[in-house]
Amino acid sequence: MICRTSLREAMARLCIVGTGHVGLVYAVAFTLQGHEVHATDVDAKAIASLQKGTPTFYEPGLKEALQKALRTKRLTFSTDVKAGARDAEAIFTCVGTPSREDGSIDLAYVEAAARTVGQGMRSATGYQVVAVKSTVLPRTTEEVVRPALEKSSGKKAGQDFGLCMNPEFLREGSAVEDAMHPDRIVIGGIDARSVKALERVYSKLTCPRMRTDLRTAEMIKYATNSFLATKVSFANELANLCDAFGGINVDTVVDAMGLDPRINPRFLKAGLGFGGSCFPKDVRALVAGGKARGYGPRLLQATLAVNELQPIRAVELAEKAVGPLKGKRVAILGLSFKGGSDDVRESRAIPLAKALVRKGAKVVGYDPIVDEAFRREVPKVEIARDLTSALAHADVCIVHNDWPQWQELRAADFAGMKRMVVIDGRRILRQEAMAGAELLVLGG
Ligand code: UGA
Repeated sequence: MICRTSLREAMARLCIVGTGHVGLVYAVAFTLQGHEVHATDVDAKAIASLQKGTPTFYEPGLKEALQKALRTKRLTFSTDVKAGARDAEAIFTCVGTPSREDGSIDLAYVEAAARTVGQGMRSATGYQVVAVKSTVLPRTTEEVVRPALEKSSGKKAGQDFGLCMNPEFLREGSAVEDAMHPDRIVIGGIDARSVKALERVYSKLTCPRMRTDLRTAEMIKYATNSFLATKVSFANELANLCDAFGGINVDTVVDAMGLDPRINPRFLKAGLGFGGSCFPKDVRALVAGGKARGYGPRLLQATLAVNELQPIRAVELAEKAVGPLKGKRVAILGLSFKGGSDDVRESRAIPLAKALVRKGAKVVGYDPIVDEAFRREVPKVEIARDLTSALAHADVCIVHNDWPQWQELRAADFAGMKRMVVIDGRRILRQEAMAGAELLVLGG
């Protein structure tokens, strides 16, 4: 299976298991980096769409990159995970790890993927390395993935095949760029041979690398997301304190803090909280995992508590401005978890809309690309087809996320409202452009 010619030396034959946000982006990036990639998923509909060059979700630049990768003829898709795993030198499992009710992660997909990959590896002849890219808690690769692989392949990790944990740090909205030009590569391996085999896949990239053991690599992923989420909650706590003291602009405070190189200004933008498929799930999983092993993380629980509070802060501001919300029409601008994405998973607009509905408000939402997906989350919300109809006769408007187009808004855009009461929950509107409107900004 190891390639011998000098041309093939730089390239590897890879199999990706799971073509969601992580798997598809890596399938495309690895192809464009010169590898031969077979991407697999159990979802036949998704595979059919990908074979035609159409991504199954919105990600800037992905469609073009996918079509470019397909034109190289080095990228193929199929539902045959077993055959993909059998023929590859390196296999990346990129399946989801959803949250359970109690915050712990559901490993059913990870385990099932490992079993199927192992079945494929059973008939492979050369040395193969399996890399877990799914976000999994420390010990999962050793205690769940390894036994599933060994049992179904009839082979032994470390002896017959390599095993690594190779976390991803892709951000939605810049995922392709992040995969093509990562700021670091972390490879945790069961042994040096596994790490070396996986390093070959990244040989063309020049960023810093870290070699660790499996558990440390797993923890690095959670530590990174938990720290960033804590930074966001810290900024939000600061915004709430600025409001409590009055007359302090939280952006000025964090800009000055950020000049200290020990702090840095990134991920300190106050708003209605963090959402998306990663931060809330990962922090909850680390809290639940820590508790299950005898340590309940205090700081991370506070990170989550502040995050729960933030959407309610916007509701409080709305009540302060227009009184009881019963019967009032409230417009929410931005329904995805962040601007530039169509993802509504854990969007803070969901608890915001639910809290408004509970207060008896008539809620109307508008987003440049999200519609039905949000209605499924909060069926009582009316989805407007454009900004003007969202704002028409509204008593109050709450800006929830950071779509760049909100920056262009002027007071005149809100003229159709009953009263121009605008709550900027993302600190994105330009104050000077909003002269004439009643603008309330979270965090001063
Ligand atoms: C996040 C991480 O940034 C990626 O590095 C990681 O790979 C990914 O999770 C993952 O684990 O797969 P993503 O979920 O795409 O990426 O979103 P971010 O851009 O990190 O934003 C997360 C949330 O925090 C959003 O709701 C965003 O609006 C909010 N946020 C972010 C703030 O409220 N303030 C900030 O200063 C930054």
